[in-house]
Amino acid sequence: MNVLISIDPDKRVSKIDERIYSSFIEHMGRAVYTGVYEPGHPLADKHGFRGDVEALIRPLELSSIRYPGGNFLSGYRWLDGVGPKKSRPVRPDLAWSALEPNQVGVDEFLQWCERIGVSAMLGVNLGTGTPQSACDLLEYVNGSLPTAFADLRRQNGRTAPYGVKLWCLGNEMDGPWQICAKTAEEYGRIACETAKMMKWLDPSIELVACGSSSRSIPTFGAWERTVLKHCYPYVDYLSLHQYYQNDGDLPSFLARSDEMDGFIREVAEICREAKAGQNGDHDIYLSFDEWNVWYHFQKECAEPPKWTVARPIEEETYDLADALVVGCMLNTLIRNADTVKIACLAQLVNVIAPIMTEPGGRAWVQTVYYPFLYASRYGRGTSLRVCTESPVYDCDAGKGIPLVDCAAVLSEDETGATLFLVNRSLTDAQPCRLTFAGETDLRVDDWVSLRAQAADAVDTADETPVRPETVSGAATSGGEADFTIPPLSWNMLRFVFPSRGKKRPS
Ligand code: AHR
Repeated sequence: MNVLISIDPDKRVSKIDERIYSSFIEHMGRAVYTGVYEPGHPLADKHGFRGDVEALIRPLELSSIRYPGGNFLSGYRWLDGVGPKKSRPVRPDLAWSALEPNQVGVDEFLQWCERIGVSAMLGVNLGTGTPQSACDLLEYVNGSLPTAFADLRRQNGRTAPYGVKLWCLGNEMDGPWQICAKTAEEYGRIACETAKMMKWLDPSIELVACGSSSRSIPTFGAWERTVLKHCYPYVDYLSLHQYYQNDGDLPSFLARSDEMDGFIREVAEICREAKAGQNGDHDIYLSFDEWNVWYHFQKECAEPPKWTVARPIEEETYDLADALVVGCMLNTLIRNADTVKIACLAQLVNVIAPIMTEPGGRAWVQTVYYPFLYASRYGRGTSLRVCTESPVYDCDAGKGIPLVDCAAVLSEDETGATLFLVNRSLTDAQPCRLTFAGETDLRVDDWVSLRAQAADAVDTADETPVRPETVSGAATSGGEADFTIPPLSWNMLRFVFPSRGKKRPS
């Protein structure tokens, strides 16, 4: 059976918010120290940031980077990380049983973001922190008045406010693993008061309240309702976090994005209810600010010694199957562009990351880098409704899972469209027929495919068996295209509409 994919450029989900192509750097493992920052490295710039890592980050065209955590955030004292580096204290980081030397703090991070052309999404500590410490940080970062913390920033060499717009009110405050975890009532109250004060101080900012740390935590749903009961008037987004792992049941693993879709829909519904229930004047959108594949130490043989700087934890080696799940998760984000406005691939370097480094040595990219790279570069514009008639399969993760997962994006200038497709079949190629309503002259501009000899093939610093390849062989006729996608593959097909291009010369 052919897979039938029907798209109508007039059936639109929403414009895609470019912030769904964001990532995350936490003071965790080797994400910061020997990841992005390593002053003694031969390729470090004059600020101590690695040029080879920057060269791998830049092509991702990230919109924002979330910082400084994660669980680390809930014990973080931001004042430790500003001022002369020699006088900054070393602290025990209770979140990851490591030592935090504070050689990178908000100034170093924000100035690095400026150099690489990425916005920052900062978190305030609502674990050990207070509404006041959150406002002090906001004043330090964005303050333009002659006030103490804005003056401290000036004294530390930075005159102009950074103008950080997006702020997270804590991190995963529902999780028992969190430093100073809270009940929904406790968090809802402190988030409300902190949000109120932060917006009084800087009305230009947008705020993300913590949703549940995953869909499977028992308080999911009730947590969101209670938190929004308290802070709906003052917040703009609710966060979602989700990581998946392959337990050896590959068909179920490949189907996980179906569950992610359900998660998004449920949280979006709760946000709509909160607005209606409070006669609200604004929508609460979703910030999927941690998502990825994560094996939680399961692939590591030995736990690294505790209480070291840059303790090398959670360094996953990703295979082809992981990249396909990342591709499906990206498709899910695109298809839900009407509700998900921010999403952060967690994380960026070394810790559950697409980019890896050796201390003092090489940097390279993993399999999961590629679906993100292409989605971020070519998945901008308008998300289109896709009607896919695909063969399906049943597995423990769900029944009727389509073998072909597809998302479609109409380009900003509307002269082309990009399809992202994953073939979940372990064995069969899938012949696909695309029908693009209203088009009479569809042309294939580019087809890139990611596949390998085996689902567990990995890329390392030495070998790269999983690399995207340019493919040919798609046939077009009028408004239709026929192409066959290989088993276990991720694909990007870019189409152009020459006739529309003529109509819109700009
Ligand atoms: O991204 C790794 C960790 O996962 C984060 O610190 C935490 O928020 C989540 O549990």
